[in-house]
Amino acid sequence: MLTADSVVKIYDRWGRFYDIVFKWIFSEGRNVGVELLDLKAGERLLEVGVGTGLSLPLYRRDSPIVGIDISSKMLEKAREKVDNLGLRNVDLQVMDAQAMTFPDDSFDCVTACYVVSAAPDPHKVVSEICRVCKPGGRIVFINHFKSQNRLLARFEELINGICRKFGWETTLDLETLIAAHKLVIGVQERVNIFDYWRAVLCYNSRK
Ligand SMILES: C[S@@+](CC[C@H](N)C(=O)[O-])C[C@H]1O[C@@H](n2cnc3c(N)ncnc32)[C@H](O)[C@@H]1O
Repeated sequence: MLTADSVVKIYDRWGRFYDIVFKWIFSEGRNVGVELLDLKAGERLLEVGVGTGLSLPLYRRDSPIVGIDISSKMLEKAREKVDNLGLRNVDLQVMDAQAMTFPDDSFDCVTACYVVSAAPDPHKVVSEICRVCKPGGRIVFINHFKSQNRLLARFEELINGICRKFGWETTLDLETLIAAHKLVIGVQERVNIFDYWRAVLCYNSRK
């Protein structure tokens, strides 16, 4: 089982070489996610599990952006990008997405790229996202969700134990997540190698 401590340990280790492995493999998903988000000038955006900050250069610079991550080593790399690119609209904070310290309705929109299945409790993360996002706000998930093909889903269950050691789950079910948090799906697209990941734009239906 992933725990907050094990996630920190795993991603603190990934920090130094995460970009070498995952910058290109996951770049299509990040680009599509930013397009689906369609951030408007001045809108306040939260990026959950911002990691080494690979999405940060893709956002417009006239919107305030807050990036949080549980791993300080991943955030160190994000800080280097923010400094090198002079992204003065970006604020980075070490924070557990399962228990955020922001008040309710703090953000116009939220993105979570390859994060919900990397967290110990994906439902807590999504519940917190819905709390800090304004009612009706846009939420974009880029993630691998459990396959709809039965054989592939069985295979994903088999390899889940190994994947957890690297820092993610393979069996998270999108439909269950959406129903549990009463999210409304706007658009979804398949992205990355073999279309194995999904970019999903949702609306926060919380009143
Ligand atoms: C696979 S990486 C994705 C990083 C980045 N979003 C990207 O597009 O490459 C997953 C990230 O989620 C972070 N993470 C996992 N659980 C978290 C939690 N509970 N709170 C905040 N960040 C978390 C990890 O530290 C890691 O940086």
